[in-house]
Amino acid sequence: MCRNALRESCDLAYPAKLRQNPGMNSQFQITQSFTAPGVIDLGAGHPGAALLPRATLQAAAAQRLGEDDSSLLQYGLEQGDSYFRHALATFLSRRYGTPVDMERLFIAAGASQALDLICTLYTQPGDVVLVEEPTYFLALRIFADHRLRVCPVATDADGLDIEALETALAAERPAMLYTVPTHQNPAGFTLPLERRRRLVELSEQHSFLIVADEVYHLLSYGTAPPAPLASFAESGTVLGLGSFSKILAPGLRLGWVQAAPHHMERLYRSGLLDSGGGLNPFTSALVRVVVEGGWEERYLDMLRATYRRRIAALHAALVEHLGRLVRYTVPDGGYFFWLRLPEQMDGETLAARAPEFKVGFRPGQRFSGRQGLRNYIRLSFAHYEDADLAEGVRRLAALIAAVYP
Ligand SMILES: Cc1ncc(COP(=O)(O)O)c(C=O)c1O
Repeated sequence: MCRNALRESCDLAYPAKLRQNPGMNSQFQITQSFTAPGVIDLGAGHPGAALLPRATLQAAAAQRLGEDDSSLLQYGLEQGDSYFRHALATFLSRRYGTPVDMERLFIAAGASQALDLICTLYTQPGDVVLVEEPTYFLALRIFADHRLRVCPVATDADGLDIEALETALAAERPAMLYTVPTHQNPAGFTLPLERRRRLVELSEQHSFLIVADEVYHLLSYGTAPPAPLASFAESGTVLGLGSFSKILAPGLRLGWVQAAPHHMERLYRSGLLDSGGGLNPFTSALVRVVVEGGWEERYLDMLRATYRRRIAALHAALVEHLGRLVRYTVPDGGYFFWLRLPEQMDGETLAARAPEFKVGFRPGQRFSGRQGLRNYIRLSFAHYEDADLAEGVRRLAALIAAVYP
């Protein structure tokens, strides 16, 4: 009787129509990853459905939920489950090639949530946050929520321009600097070790926090990048962010902060954690199985091989269809190509006409802290297979030819 009642309530919550075809009712479709039918959205910065590790998570869930232990359904330890942090620290130490201490890890519900919490705890409205120009556009939204004043700092082919940073520091007293130091979103650059060291020195001299968003660090397809900025955590000025969104699945909402002990304490003693306990204990418990079982290692290797191949496909299509028009560096990590169009072209103008050509991309202006970068666009190779990437570029070329004959 009781069992039937439970089944009924489950059925009510998940109507049969949707169960058969979850995509059929757009009212239930999530907006962030929604693409209109027939459109190839080369702007989509998330993996395609075929890449998502459903079978792995299914096996991990069966294994973990089959155990006689319900602790994963309880409020979690504030800093994050210890077994999971141990597994994560072991995995990161191996992949980073530099030791990671589990006591320096705080489990978050993704890098975005970690960034939001850091803003809550370390900034006041009106504070200055220095960002790269270009920067990850959705971090700008988080800074806007916290009413921070964004000051863009110039970059070059190697990332943050340290001289430009020093000039900015002579004029401003920032609360923090937000950087994506490795395989940057959108520009793809990786900050060399020497600049990383200098950046940390400057943060100590000028007393600002470095929030290093390192979600692409493990997605390297060529030579290994320098050690993550998180490895400078002992300096006390660096908080490194990581995420399973790019190396397993974004829907897990699971990430971490790597930082010195006093930051750990600040994070896990926050009101949010006091009321709700550790973040995502359920997901952590499943992902622990994935990491401990060696599945994460194998999945990551598969991802790197796939993305390496897709870069070649997208590059070939760009050479064929837009070779004489666009300038870019072929990325050796991350998700993105950052294309420079001729000066007179405007990414937003192109985006307005893009639906007619059933193609999408992200206009450069959205990545600018000063409404610049109009003649840039960002393409991603994470979402589509080779053939769709090539077709998307063909459509993009047709769009550009129509708008700028
Ligand atoms: C630089 C950067 N940071 C953070 C995120 C979002 O990470 P998460 O899903 O862990 O919140 C993204 C996703 O596109 C990103 O590119």
